[in-house]
Amino acid sequence: MSGRTARLIFYLGTLTSLVLFLGLTADTHRQIVALTHVDQLSDTVVAGKRVWHKYNCNDCHTILGFGSYYAPDLTKVYWRRGADGIKAVVRNPEKFTTWRKMPRQNVSDQELDQLVSFLKWTSDIENNDWPPQDRKFRGAAGRAVALGVSPGAMLFREKGCFACHSLYGTGGDAGPELTRVGSRLPYERIERVLADPVAVNPEATMPPPGLSPEERNTLAQFLAELK
Ligand code: HEC
Ligand code: HEC
Repeated sequence: MSGRTARLIFYLGTLTSLVLFLGLTADTHRQIVALTHVDQLSDTVVAGKRVWHKYNCNDCHTILGFGSYYAPDLTKVYWRRGADGIKAVVRNPEKFTTWRKMPRQNVSDQELDQLVSFLKWTSDIENNDWPPQDRKFRGAAGRAVALGVSPGAMLFREKGCFACHSLYGTGGDAGPELTRVGSRLPYERIERVLADPVAVNPEATMPPPGLSPEERNTLAQFLAELK
């Protein structure tokens, strides 16, 4: 290849990329009003964004990829947990977090309402599945809203199941992933595992969880519904 051809390829390639880049950028800007639902940007949503910054939530979390990468991206957290679920986490983080820690801060009830409005608004942004982990939550959204607040979900956290099992990408990997355990195992089988893992599988290494019959019933029902 002559030097002239190489230069030509370089200039043409750069020019094509530049035109594409500018064109797509302009196209995105043209759609921003619709993609972000600007009409729903109420005073409460704006106040919620201020609360987000006041408590430095972005020191650990990201929204649309902006912030720090210590804790989960919260762009779609409203889908995962719903209003009550978000409030419960912020009020009592130690109950909901696993091996990673989140500090408890004195966020007032009014601020919490504003924060939830802000996170609801971000959940509705059409972000074309970016940051990418949102895709996996899309189908699970409805069920996950219950995850943060149902009694079964609370037990799952309180009894330390997250130490070995993960749900929706959170948790340990010493035991099987349980996000869709209900489609693999019926209620009765799950209930028996929780009563005595070794009775179901002689090779089992899962420690017997030590649950009361009611707790076992609640947890097994919660898991059987994860499909
Ligand atoms: C010092 C770091 C830190 C700060 C500051 C922090 N968080 Fe968290 N947060 C975490 C971690 C870590 C987790 C996930 C823990 C786990 O389950 O592994 C988390 C989890 C959450 C969850 C549940 C996430 C999910 O995917 O369902 C919500 C909601 C949340 N935080 C909201 C907030 C809000 C709102 C603020 C600001 C008021 C805040 N956090 C400040 C570290 C932090
Ligand atoms: C120390 C790790 C550990 C803890 C804690 C733990 N498990 Fe397990 N679990 C396992 C392992 C490993 C298996 C796979 C079978 C085996 O080896 O026992 C399992 C299997 C299961 C299964 C059957 C899944 C399947 O696909 O066959 C269910 C359901 C389950 N665990 C639920 C729970 C619940 C609910 C809790 C909390 C009360 C819990 N586990 C606590 C390690 C653990």
